[in-house]
Amino acid sequence: MEDKIKNLQEQALLEIKAANTADSLEQLRIKYLGRKSLVNTLFAELGGVPAGDKPRIGNLLNQMKTAVTNALEEAKSATGNAGTGPESETCLAGRQAIDVTMPGIRGAIGHKHPLTQVLDRINEIFLNLGFKIAEGPEIETPYYNFEALNIPLDHPSRDTFDTFYLKEDRGQKFLLRSQTSTVQIRVMQKHKPPLQIIAPGKVYRPDATDASHSFMFHQVEGLMVDRDIKFSDLKGILEMFVKQMFGGDTKMRFRPHFFPFTEPSAEIDISCAMCNGKGCRSCGQKGWIEILGAGMVHPAVFEVVGYDPNKWTGFAFGMGVERIAMLKFGVEDIRLFFENDLRFLRQF
Ligand code: DAH
Repeated sequence: MEDKIKNLQEQALLEIKAANTADSLEQLRIKYLGRKSLVNTLFAELGGVPAGDKPRIGNLLNQMKTAVTNALEEAKSATGNAGTGPESETCLAGRQAIDVTMPGIRGAIGHKHPLTQVLDRINEIFLNLGFKIAEGPEIETPYYNFEALNIPLDHPSRDTFDTFYLKEDRGQKFLLRSQTSTVQIRVMQKHKPPLQIIAPGKVYRPDATDASHSFMFHQVEGLMVDRDIKFSDLKGILEMFVKQMFGGDTKMRFRPHFFPFTEPSAEIDISCAMCNGKGCRSCGQKGWIEILGAGMVHPAVFEVVGYDPNKWTGFAFGMGVERIAMLKFGVEDIRLFFENDLRFLRQF
């Protein structure tokens, strides 16, 4: 009996060693360990062994079974296929159980958010006109958001730039910027004129959310300073922008307005693309839609940054990106941009 066990083990291990496919290993598993296997036959013979030898022989049998089982497992993982069954053998690609003939799962290809598309286009138009892109922080001090822009503490126009205030830190007040005009000051403090920048970015205002208001939205600020910059330069640049953004037939008009950091100031409207200026629901029957504020940089702002107002002149403008995207794409509710609803976003 002892010899039988020893021989069977030797034979099994030799055959396992020689086998090199998952299929042949499976055949060996059935041959040696299956229900009607050689090993089980030996276990059946254990009944005829004298009682005194039973524990020792039983032990040997168990050891042999373990050795064969382990050898099979090792050989299986060496073929790179831990799975069993003949079907796995056909799936071998290199050492991996991958069926390269199966159809693949196509990865979803995303695209840019409509607001990003519009921002990219705005940037592109101004970069082509020689502007550089500048950026500033979204957490600002009242100095950059107001004082340096010629908006004193008690000035009523502060109300129009309703602002989120943050916690004071060591006596310093902080806020979320309510306009990108802050970047005008930051850029002029750092660089000498002439300069020509746009500053795209997020701004925040504590407005109740509705179809045309969001507590966070995007603006693109523009600033050009040089000797002899005139109001007509502002007009020319904005006209180029409007025609490239909305099409060559778009009309533009300047309305006098007040901004503390520009003098004179204007609000700029474009002819409503929905009704061609005739008046419709989108433009409130006016035929015109406001898209930005602008003006000639106020001498007080130049003085804050140490530019000589007698030597330098400049224009500035600020536009709302959501407003432009809504006009361009015919979107009637600003909230759609921020809800992350793919049924909406996939349309752009
Ligand atoms: N900062 C203004 C706003 O948020 C927009 C603006 C108006 C920017 C006139 C300018 C400007 O640079 O000259 O409403």
